Amino acid sequence: MSSEFDALLGDVGVERFLSEYWQRKPLLIRQAIPDYSSPVEPDELAGLSLEEEVESRIIIKNGSHPWELRRGPFSDEDYKQLPEQDWTLLVQAVDQFVPEVAELLQRFRFLPSWRVDDVMISYATPGGGVGPHFDNYDVFLLQVEGKRRWRVGQHCTSESALQDNPDLRILREFECQDEWVLEPGDMLYIPPGIAHDGIAETDCLTYSIGFRAPSHQEVLVHFTDYLAHQLSEDVRYSDAGLKQPQDPAAIDPESIDRLQQSILELVQNKEALATWFGRHMTEAKYPELAQNYIDDDADLLAGLNAGYGLIHNPCVRLAYRVTESSEIELFASGEHCRVPGELKALVQLICNQSYLSPEALEQWQQDAGAIELLEQLLDKGYLLLERDDE
Ligand code: SIN
Ligand code: CO
Repeated sequence: MSSEFDALLGDVGVERFLSEYWQRKPLLIRQAIPDYSSPVEPDELAGLSLEEEVESRIIIKNGSHPWELRRGPFSDEDYKQLPEQDWTLLVQAVDQFVPEVAELLQRFRFLPSWRVDDVMISYATPGGGVGPHFDNYDVFLLQVEGKRRWRVGQHCTSESALQDNPDLRILREFECQDEWVLEPGDMLYIPPGIAHDGIAETDCLTYSIGFRAPSHQEVLVHFTDYLAHQLSEDVRYSDAGLKQPQDPAAIDPESIDRLQQSILELVQNKEALATWFGRHMTEAKYPELAQNYIDDDADLLAGLNAGYGLIHNPCVRLAYRVTESSEIELFASGEHCRVPGELKALVQLICNQSYLSPEALEQWQQDAGAIELLEQLLDKGYLLLERDDE
């Protein structure tokens, strides 16, 4: 089956990429996005790193110690003191600040959109990089300006030996298995756990499209917490029909069986798991930033009549699911609401379209449930009124 996204993956295409490479092995795609012009120039990236709400880092290869990490926000003075080369600036979640960068994510919609973490942009001077390391997430490294040498190495785990560095997880050993120089438009996919090391050959800009995957530890802690909050105090350990213990001080296997049975019954609640998962995967990276967009005066119908459409708040993630009873659960920023199944097409539109034009929403304007949902999303600041001026 061919897909509109095939071109991004060169000769490999989406189907083969998903079956052979995704989460399994690295893939270099030459000219994945030819002629891609960076919406953010290096000086603008540096400008972002001066902002309080932006997460940024500078890594200097031979600073006060090897691989010195400095955390932003930075000042102009900080930049004046940097060496000529061998350093890199990394700015996290640029997609949340620059809509044109968020647009790049449209090309990755052959993957679930709720798996996307962010687009990080790095600017590196020759020799600059973050050192040999591995990530727990899948990442696509798009070379946007300049040249960078990427080496990929062994499979790593939390047991892999690290260098003695106070801030960064730099690998002690790197067993190089492949090496390429990436030029503008080239892209390298790296699965979780694969060692990699990118060293700038010239001044360069690299975009990292990163994907989130919760650890099992996170799933257990947060899901059971979510479940626990819904349980009443009355539901507790019970041992009706208890046999007189041989030794009252011994915790016998039957007691543990009883406990295990109750836990299994609780965690087997698949609907609760699905709801929790939707909430968890849509949690905002920076919840306080998402709040900044709330406009108390926004009036949906007046806005639509005046030719405004709706866009996503750039800091909010949206997803939905169909429940067992065919209702729709819409997830936004770690919250959810349930709407009747008849609104599925609207929910799909809301989640998938970055701009909902007044025309696209016209058919829903007579539907009280649809208007209520849109108004709720507007009030929460998850959707924003905006005119499409293109
Ligand atoms: C970088 O852009 O320098 C780092 C990206 C990565 O290795 O994940
Ligand atoms: Co990495």
